[in-house]
Amino acid sequence: MEYGLVIVTGASSGLGEGFAEALAGRTRCMALVARRQNRIESIAQRVRASHPGVQILCIPCDLAQEAERSSLLEQLRGITPGRTLLLNNAGSGDYGELATADPGKIRQLMQVNMLAVVELVHGLLPRLLRDGGDIINTASLAADVFLPDFALYAASKAFVASFSEGLRLELAGRGVRVLALCPGPVHTEFGSVAQRVGFDRGDMPLKSWFYTTVDEVVSSALRGLAKGCARVYPSAKVWASGCLLRLTPLWLLRRILAMRPRRVAAESGGVP
Ligand SMILES: NC(=O)c1ccc[n+]([C@@H]2O[C@H](COP(=O)([O-])OP(=O)(O)OC[C@H]3O[C@@H](n4cnc5c(N)ncnc54)[C@H](OP(=O)(O)O)[C@@H]3O)[C@@H](O)[C@H]2O)c1
Repeated sequence: MEYGLVIVTGASSGLGEGFAEALAGRTRCMALVARRQNRIESIAQRVRASHPGVQILCIPCDLAQEAERSSLLEQLRGITPGRTLLLNNAGSGDYGELATADPGKIRQLMQVNMLAVVELVHGLLPRLLRDGGDIINTASLAADVFLPDFALYAASKAFVASFSEGLRLELAGRGVRVLALCPGPVHTEFGSVAQRVGFDRGDMPLKSWFYTTVDEVVSSALRGLAKGCARVYPSAKVWASGCLLRLTPLWLLRRILAMRPRRVAAESGGVP
């Protein structure tokens, strides 16, 4: 068995659910973390049926709440020692301009997408350094670009990618690998959660062409981790887009992104 413990945050749907299924055969124990307890329990039930040997712990937790993050860490620290994979995957977005964003949603996005990632890594590093292990932090292709009407989300993912790269170098040669996973668009619940009521979708032209499947993202991430990659851009299209974004001069990127269709309130009829 490769791991004694695999921790998946955001395990109740989308990529987290895919990771839980893909990793069940590679660990003695798996902790599934998300707010929707019924969802993680039914995923656990399905995974147990196909992998009867794995112990699955369902830990309901709102990662936006400091007290719940602390209690989660306590529970995770109490699990039997062993090589550990921490998958910081929970995250959400909020389509629309910052001026009209709900303050609660702003705080929640920053707590889940950034603070929870750092606190879980920091709180579990003693275990990871003692027993060995890996960290996968789910960033995004958006980490390589600034996005109007998705500015905070893109900035939060730039934070995750940069944090992961720095951490990877800090931990080099100490038995803990760190990977930043940078998917492009994937069909999950992400889009509907990020969508504001009454707002136009304002999708980028050709966005549908970029879509990658959950399975493709999960298998690319696990392959990349095994190879010791610093970042994984699942699919050739997403990888090429990442390269293009990093090679494009900032002045040109600003011009292109200024032409991006806006995600504005449907009734306003255009950019305010
Ligand atoms: N889908 C995409 O196009 C895409 C592209 C690039 C990167 N990503 C990133 O991939 C990761 C997974 O997203 P997904 O696409 O799989 O979307 P998803 O289906 O909406 O899954 C998001 C997961 O995060 C959990 N979560 C959200 N807020 C939480 C909170 N406050 N506390 C605990 N858990 C919370 C959700 O669980 P509960 O609601 O049950 O709490 C859910 O399990 C995210 O970090 C996202 O930013 C997604």
